[in-house]
Amino acid sequence: MIGRLNHVAIAVPDLAAATQQYRGALGATVSDPIALPSHGVTVVFVELPNTKIELLEPLGEGSPIAAFLARTPSGGIHHLCYEVDDILAARDHLVGTGARVLGSGEPTNGAHDKPVLFLHPKDFNGTLIELEQA
Ligand code: CO
Repeated sequence: MIGRLNHVAIAVPDLAAATQQYRGALGATVSDPIALPSHGVTVVFVELPNTKIELLEPLGEGSPIAAFLARTPSGGIHHLCYEVDDILAARDHLVGTGARVLGSGEPTNGAHDKPVLFLHPKDFNGTLIELEQA
């Protein structure tokens, strides 16, 4: 059911420093920062030949990555995003297997303006999984 790895998201305490590191030390192409107030993050996209890395920094009060960074102050891998063809069919299949969908269970528009859902990390080996309808 799942398709391509769309991105790996890394929560970082200092987006400007992380951007500089990816551009400088790692020699990657990195987008300008994009503020996503409705998601509580500012993000940059690192473009790789086979996937993307998203660097996330908290934005505003109650950011969903604030607690994560409180536990891991130097940053860390926050979630993986897999592509699916039909997000509602994927959700219904997963719920049928006993997996828990976070939030209301309805897809929201993600950082790429495509429908996304998140699956409970305790159901997937401690990994927060994002599904994106490609
Ligand atoms: Co993501």
